[in-house]
Amino acid sequence: MTESAVDLRRTSMGVPRPVDQADIQSRVERFWPIAEACLRRVYGFRPDCEGWLQSIASLVSELATARPAELCRRDRSGGRWWRDRSMVGYSAYVDRFAGDLVQMQGRLPYLKDLGVGYLHLLPLFKAREGENDGGFAVSDFTAVEPRLGTTADLRELATAAHQADIRLVLDLVCNHTSDDHAWARAARAGDECYRDYYCVAPDSATVQRYEERLVDVFPEVAPGNFTYCKEMGGWVWTTFYPFQWDLNYANPAVFFEMTAAMLRLANMGVDGLRMDSAPYLWKRLGTDCRNQPEVHWLLAAWRALLSIAAPGVVLKAEAIERLEEVKSYFGARPGEPECQLAYNNGVMTALWASLALASAEPASRLIEAAAQKPPWGTWVNYVRCHDDIIWSALSPHVPLEDQARCSSVFSGAGTAQSAAAIAPSTNGMAATLAGVSDDDADGLGVKKLLLLYGVTYALDGLPVVWMGDELALGDDRDPPAPASGPCDGRWRQRPIMDWRRAVQRTAPDCLAGRVFQQLVAMARTRASHPAFDAAHTARPGTTKSPAILNFVRGEGSVAMQCLANFTAEMSIAPVELEPTGGTWTDLLSGETGSGSQAPLGPYQLRWLSPTP
Ligand code: GLC
Repeated sequence: MTESAVDLRRTSMGVPRPVDQADIQSRVERFWPIAEACLRRVYGFRPDCEGWLQSIASLVSELATARPAELCRRDRSGGRWWRDRSMVGYSAYVDRFAGDLVQMQGRLPYLKDLGVGYLHLLPLFKAREGENDGGFAVSDFTAVEPRLGTTADLRELATAAHQADIRLVLDLVCNHTSDDHAWARAARAGDECYRDYYCVAPDSATVQRYEERLVDVFPEVAPGNFTYCKEMGGWVWTTFYPFQWDLNYANPAVFFEMTAAMLRLANMGVDGLRMDSAPYLWKRLGTDCRNQPEVHWLLAAWRALLSIAAPGVVLKAEAIERLEEVKSYFGARPGEPECQLAYNNGVMTALWASLALASAEPASRLIEAAAQKPPWGTWVNYVRCHDDIIWSALSPHVPLEDQARCSSVFSGAGTAQSAAAIAPSTNGMAATLAGVSDDDADGLGVKKLLLLYGVTYALDGLPVVWMGDELALGDDRDPPAPASGPCDGRWRQRPIMDWRRAVQRTAPDCLAGRVFQQLVAMARTRASHPAFDAAHTARPGTTKSPAILNFVRGEGSVAMQCLANFTAEMSIAPVELEPTGGTWTDLLSGETGSGSQAPLGPYQLRWLSPTP
């Protein structure tokens, strides 16, 4: 231990449990120096830093000691479950998918049918009344949203999920609170201590100076990054909606509070935390106030503190940035890991770009670039989620003109729009964007949908299905309307789950059954073949063709070549397996062949492997 490191046995407030305490202490020796170094980088200049570090140490000690025995057992036995090739994820809103947390338990068998072992539930803590950005405007990090249930229901759901061998992942909305959180209310009432929990610009000139470099996240529904608040005597920083107040991480009390929220959640049985809007945590004048070094130090500190108190809990970065930036969320410095998981939004966006442009090139480029990442980081691969597809994620790999073309293809506008009219992002369910028509189980739309999911399942990383995609559910045609102002287009991809359609999931000749069964088959194939082990990253095939995405995982007899035709034309693809010219089996169709070429139909996907 370093001289200044804290002995948690001294600060422990819980009832000592000798065996666990020894365990905890060994984790303290390993991880406290990392946390301390990171936190000193951020807060070390403050005269109160030493005492504050002690309070963080006490908090970690208290919650490490209070961790339920069952969860400690899970910590020890879990291994690196998120890298397991059998792992498939699912993401959903509790209300739109199941109704509430109790009913969610009843839906676990459905998820098991799909092969799901990881369930990400969108925010479920108490949110502000009225508009709340789908729960992302949290009013209380300790209470479950009453519409969805209670904290007891949440604990029970975690237990039920664990019994079903499903890991539960929840959002930690760490960048902001709602404007009616107790901290915000106290701040508005004049409490200086809580005022300092938020970022407040004193005048419009300061706002202007910051705005010069800031980008609007919701230009249509919530333009600007500040909201004037009379009671606060200034402009509150509101990156997202005006009712989402950005927290001031320059104030160490904010880091303390959020650490407490994180560790309490961990002790409720949560297996992973999605660090919402992570890039925005630190503000610096003259920058775009995203991805600042302090963000990485704070995340590395949180990782280290979790490794002491709840070592089995993983962190997932929600950093919807350019690919190079996203990779830094695995840990920007050696020895200071941050998030084990990060959204592969570059590849997700590139897959849609490839469909729009009928060219495999965007996907090839981004997959190649994404493979160059720290080996300890794991991508979360996905096709759609609750948010929009932001085309700038393709920069600098795909030219701006092509990004604009993609946007106009999906808006149905063709290419005749002026640059100014082109939307920077696209909304919609995968089935709608792929052009699936409801009664056509064999059409090109379904092929496109399965092509994107098939590539996602073939890549290294954890594939996560967005709620309803497994049934080819289309857009919500009647999304909830705001009390005033324009509708947030993201509600298009948040339809209420269609449980009547889910009944058809076992019937392979109808649309829902075809998609569901194909996803099940892909999950099983992935789980059973060693080429899908996390160690085998995707490497581009040597033969490049604009029509066909071509990558290989593994070597020799343990290899899989993924071929995906992004056009409506028949094509011939090169087989690049050892021995050259040998026989191969398509793991998806069971088809076999020999020689150095394989035919591909319109939007066909193949996973080739040498025939044993
Ligand atoms: C994340 C969420 C998004 C939300 C925003 C603000 O980007 O994915 O849905 O609007 O954070 O919390």
